[in-house]
Amino acid sequence: MKIVHDIKSLREFLQDKKNIGLVPTMGYLHEGHLSLVNEAKKISEHVVMSIFVNPLQFGPNEDFDRYPRDFDRDCQMAQDAGADVVFAPSVSEMYPDKSFTTVHVSSVTERLCGASRPGHFDGVATVVSKLFHIVQPTYAFFGLKDAQQVAVIQQMVNDLNFPVKIIPCPIIREKDGLALSSRNVYLSPEEREQALVLSQSLKEARRFIEEGERDIRAVINHIRSLIGSKPLAEIEYVEVLSYPSLQTLKRLEGRFIIALAVKFGKTRLIDNLIMSLQEVS
Ligand code: PAJ
Repeated sequence: MKIVHDIKSLREFLQDKKNIGLVPTMGYLHEGHLSLVNEAKKISEHVVMSIFVNPLQFGPNEDFDRYPRDFDRDCQMAQDAGADVVFAPSVSEMYPDKSFTTVHVSSVTERLCGASRPGHFDGVATVVSKLFHIVQPTYAFFGLKDAQQVAVIQQMVNDLNFPVKIIPCPIIREKDGLALSSRNVYLSPEEREQALVLSQSLKEARRFIEEGERDIRAVINHIRSLIGSKPLAEIEYVEVLSYPSLQTLKRLEGRFIIALAVKFGKTRLIDNLIMSLQEVS
């Protein structure tokens, strides 16, 4: 597997390659990231994984400085998963002193993490559009763990005519249901135990809806009370919105997302469930 740190060398290496699949990550890899490489290998001839902790998408009081990093381990895992190239630029390679352009996607960024992390999706859209220009992939793979991110990137690609096909991939979970995340390492054993309430409450919500519940308030209240029963959990949001447009719904209809963000101590976890009523009826 080739490891490249600068844009020029990557462009040279990819120059004559076709059918490239890009898997953008911030590293500290786990099975969730590797599942994207797996999906990429199925339909791409060359799989590029980017590893870049993007300062632009972290707020001033967020965890950019302490975001977990282990580049050697990441490279080993990317290689074992079958990636062909790891692209790991420095911050100055991606953002030289004079850069004054950012990409802003409106509407789908207004709720959920867009509301609680101002500027976050500008940072994501900007770095992802840079990666698309640098790598020029045929396909790009994103996990539905970050379902709003998928909606934002898809909107950007549609609006700005990027010649790339976005492939959304399912959420990978631990056996007990916790969605894999690089941030799970921050959790104490008690927090880890209580964090199970996220996936459990989504499962409960699915059951509720399958049994006929259509009132969004009732679904949200049920989830809130389950999460609220865990003393270490601090709810940031529990929302039910249309997906992928992420707009308010009066009642459950069509395709929708139940999305959660909950803090355990300093660790912020997200999880979600995307459903459509056709599945149920
Ligand atoms: P990061 O959090 O490292 O995630 C990289 C990719 O892995 C994202 O598409 C994310 O949705 C996916 N992923 C993470 N956990 C997953 C899980 N449990 N199951 C399935 N997929 C999972 O998301 C980012 O980095 C950044 O915002 C990035 C897109 C790289 C831009 O900086």
